[in-house]
Amino acid sequence: MVRQHVNPLSRFFQLPLELPPPQALFDDPGLPLHLDIGCARGRFLLALAAREPDRNHLGVEIRRALVQAAEAERKTLALGNLRFLFCNANVSLEAWLAALPSGLLQRVTIQFPDPWFKKKHHKRRVLQPELLLAVATALPPGGELFLQSDVPAVIEPQVDMCEACDCFERPEGDARPWRLDNPLPIPTERETHVLSQGLPVYRVLYRRNSNVPPGLTALQARLPKDQDEGTP
Ligand SMILES: C[S@@+](CC[C@H](N)C(=O)[O-])C[C@H]1O[C@@H](n2cnc3c(N)ncnc32)[C@H](O)[C@@H]1O
Repeated sequence: MVRQHVNPLSRFFQLPLELPPPQALFDDPGLPLHLDIGCARGRFLLALAAREPDRNHLGVEIRRALVQAAEAERKTLALGNLRFLFCNANVSLEAWLAALPSGLLQRVTIQFPDPWFKKKHHKRRVLQPELLLAVATALPPGGELFLQSDVPAVIEPQVDMCEACDCFERPEGDARPWRLDNPLPIPTERETHVLSQGLPVYRVLYRRNSNVPPGLTALQARLPKDQDEGTP
């Protein structure tokens, strides 16, 4: 049986991994970079990387078997602008993002993250203030952060966090509260499943503005009460 969830807070997944820099990942490491957090089996990025050869794509995923399967398919397809890495995004991405060459990161996607419905499990959700600040610091002005989910109770706190961060703006004319369409040309696996059931998808596209990111304590202080439970 395939286990659907791992607990990202368990001791094993708290061990930081040193993720290779872009020079060690891609054929042309200078291309604009797209980071997909929680990429699962990677079919979204496998299709997108073939369609967007002028961009590098990195998928990170906490379930190692999925990363191995995605990497095997990537090698078969000989896609030099795509890599998949095993890691806990909340433990290993911050240092990697901080070390990126300035301006390289152009797009970050977090799509259909594990919902962790119970309040006591909210701290297991992938978008925590520390990760959002790391993304905000690495994304240059104009860089994109795209969020989508089929669970309002998951994406609404993400939107609250982005608004509190004050580093992201929605493109002018975008429908509120949710985008009507997906700005990306490829749906994710979860998205395809949800749409096939006739269920709604909630989407927000943000563009990085030029504001300096707040400190962690300042961001936490701006969040509704439940939101800062994820930080120690
Ligand atoms: C519901 S799946 C969605 C997968 C894909 N984005 C899609 O839309 O089809 C969420 C994925 O995020 C991964 N994930 C959850 N927490 C993570 C973390 N802390 N670091 C990396 N990946 C994580 C899960 O293992 C799972 O594969």
